Amino acid sequence: MDQSSKVEKKYDRIAGLYDLLTSGNEKRRFSSWRKNFISPLKGNILEIGIGTGKSIKYYNENCKLLGIDISEKMLQRAKERLAESGRANITLKQMNAENLDLENDSFDYVVTSCVFCSVPDPVKGLKEIRRVLKPSGKLIMMEHVLSKNALIALIEHINNPITKLLTGININRDTRQNVVNAGMKITDEKNLAFFDVFKLFVAEKNG
Ligand SMILES: C[S@@+](CC[C@H](N)C(=O)[O-])C[C@H]1O[C@@H](n2cnc3c(N)ncnc32)[C@H](O)[C@@H]1O
Repeated sequence: MDQSSKVEKKYDRIAGLYDLLTSGNEKRRFSSWRKNFISPLKGNILEIGIGTGKSIKYYNENCKLLGIDISEKMLQRAKERLAESGRANITLKQMNAENLDLENDSFDYVVTSCVFCSVPDPVKGLKEIRRVLKPSGKLIMMEHVLSKNALIALIEHINNPITKLLTGININRDTRQNVVNAGMKITDEKNLAFFDVFKLFVAEKNG
């Protein structure tokens, strides 16, 4: 089984429990981050790894959103949420971030939250994002990453094999560098929580 299929199976397995397991973090942190960083976005938007669709209610009713995810079971919950929301401006599709079946230069924004910890080849996925962004487009990421603090980074490195084995999640990814390696330019960066572990990155298509 290839790495992407392994991630897909892992998320299919935890899909039924995902909302429960993440409800505390959602209330304390992600709900306000989604409100601040997603609600103002307009135009044609792609969310990669939309999961169970917790972000759906934060999107502006006037935007056009395509949400993709590799896991059918995660998407199933997102589809229920979408139906409950009654939104007609949102489409959901099963797709791999590493191989987007989408046109070049087609999105004003691409959004991710806690996704590039699990995409097996993050630079490949980020290059795909770069390809589908319009020249004026922006990538908005809310991700947990490798800390610059030596002690926190050591804890992340030590625990990474366990989180990777159990959930497919890597907690020691240098996502900032991966964005740069994919050819994009970071234009804004904020520490969101746990010192510099949870970060916001805003990047432009051309580095
Ligand atoms: C930790 S969950 C985050 C879900 C959602 N973004 C949120 O904030 O609740 C990671 C999501 O990324 C998806 N994912 C992982 N690798 C992917 C890939 N290569 N392509 C598309 N989705 C992927 C998983 O299936 C899962 O739904």
